[in-house]
Amino acid sequence: MTTDETGATAHGVLRLPDRILFGDGSFSAVAVEASRLGSNVLLVCDPFLLDSPELDGILKELASLNVDVTVEARVVPELPREHVEELIAAHRNSGADAVVAVGGGSAIDLAKLIALGLSTIGALDTWYGENAIPSPVLPVVAVPTTAGTGSEVTGVAVLTDPDRDLKVGISSPYLVPCVAIVDPLLTIGAPPSVTAASGADALVHAVEAYTAAVRPADWSAQLPVFVGRNLLSSPLALEAIRLIVPNLARAVRDGNDLDARRAMAQGSLLAGMAFGSAGTHLSHAIQYPVGALTHTPHGLGTGLLLPYVLDAVLPTCVPQLAHISEALGLRESNSEAAARAAIDAIAGVFEEIGLPSDLRSIGVTDADVPRIVELSLTVKRLVANSSDTPTPELIGRIVRAALDGDRARPVSEETNDQNRIHA
Ligand SMILES: NC(=O)c1ccc[n+]([C@@H]2O[C@H](COP(=O)([O-])OP(=O)(O)OC[C@H]3O[C@@H](n4cnc5c(N)ncnc54)[C@H](O)[C@@H]3O)[C@@H](O)[C@H]2O)c1
Ligand SMILES: [Fe+2]
Repeated sequence: MTTDETGATAHGVLRLPDRILFGDGSFSAVAVEASRLGSNVLLVCDPFLLDSPELDGILKELASLNVDVTVEARVVPELPREHVEELIAAHRNSGADAVVAVGGGSAIDLAKLIALGLSTIGALDTWYGENAIPSPVLPVVAVPTTAGTGSEVTGVAVLTDPDRDLKVGISSPYLVPCVAIVDPLLTIGAPPSVTAASGADALVHAVEAYTAAVRPADWSAQLPVFVGRNLLSSPLALEAIRLIVPNLARAVRDGNDLDARRAMAQGSLLAGMAFGSAGTHLSHAIQYPVGALTHTPHGLGTGLLLPYVLDAVLPTCVPQLAHISEALGLRESNSEAAARAAIDAIAGVFEEIGLPSDLRSIGVTDADVPRIVELSLTVKRLVANSSDTPTPELIGRIVRAALDGDRARPVSEETNDQNRIHA
């Protein structure tokens, strides 16, 4: 495998929207962008925006551009499958040319799933997994109000299926929105708990994209949606980490800190651009069953798990973690110490924003561990992205360490030396 000096592969893959607009006030572009896609738009709107001047503004502008609009605000966090199917059925005969989503990751994922449902025949579970969608779906304009899932730029939609023991993902290049409009001002009102969980998830996206496995690219076959760490995703992921680490706690502490909100919005966007192709790995694979079991927000789980995952895979990604350390301005005498310092800095941010630090405190028990391990291993597109071989032993070690909040346990003897900063 050819690699460059940063350890990234010498190949790259990015799948992105046709247009990405970023900056204060970019929200004003929503109506014009939507009008370029059709004259009949379904607007999926997060319920917190009902009766807001922002929604009012879009509706007036769309009317002035002669675009018919139907507003759908029945967004339920974490998206139960039956609810999504009901909404698809409700809008099946709407004749919509495009779907606009304004809201958190749940609203954007709902918009993607409705766009999919209106473009295809068949139950949602037909499309679970990777690359199962056969053809383009209705174009989506995605406008996030959290920072964030990165869903505005990824080909992923996540929902909850009560018939399954874990959350399910539908991943396809056809689900990448056509336009992403990221206005940091829209995130100002997000409450601290939402800012914390969605911001933690953004950091996990960036770190997992940067530490994902290097995987060979078979250009003559259909590429997996998540192709692993690569030359084009890595610079975006590293810049996202550099933006998010110093700003996440500031945004949680003071939601009106505009500089912190801007950095978080930019960081979560870059993280989404990176992981949309590189993919995430074990924190996400393990969060799927943990989230289904504990009904805790996605970002709370991925953030809680990330330090334990990194402790465990550290021997297989020392250079990448050392780059993160360098990007954060941490000074260490050797790359192993730098790698540990990076993990500790990330764990420190999660502690500062008040994420729980062990699985027991969110309701997981010893008896749940074998099932969590078994189910995590079924999330093949994510475990395949792990830099270390994803054996039941490795996943079990991570889950048991996270259960007890034991940061020391997953570290192998080889790495458990005097350089460790916080045991
Ligand atoms: N598609 C992807 O690539 C991807 C990636 C990660 C997560 N996800 C999914 O995204 C969902 C989580 O998204 P999220 O973290 O953005 O949370 P969310 O969309 O579930 O929103 C959480 C709560 O915050 C409210 N909210 C959102 N923005 C607000 C604002 N600016 N002001 C006030 N309230 C606001 C919402 O109304 C909701 O009540 C999960 O379902 C997760 O599985 C998707
Ligand atoms: Fe995530």
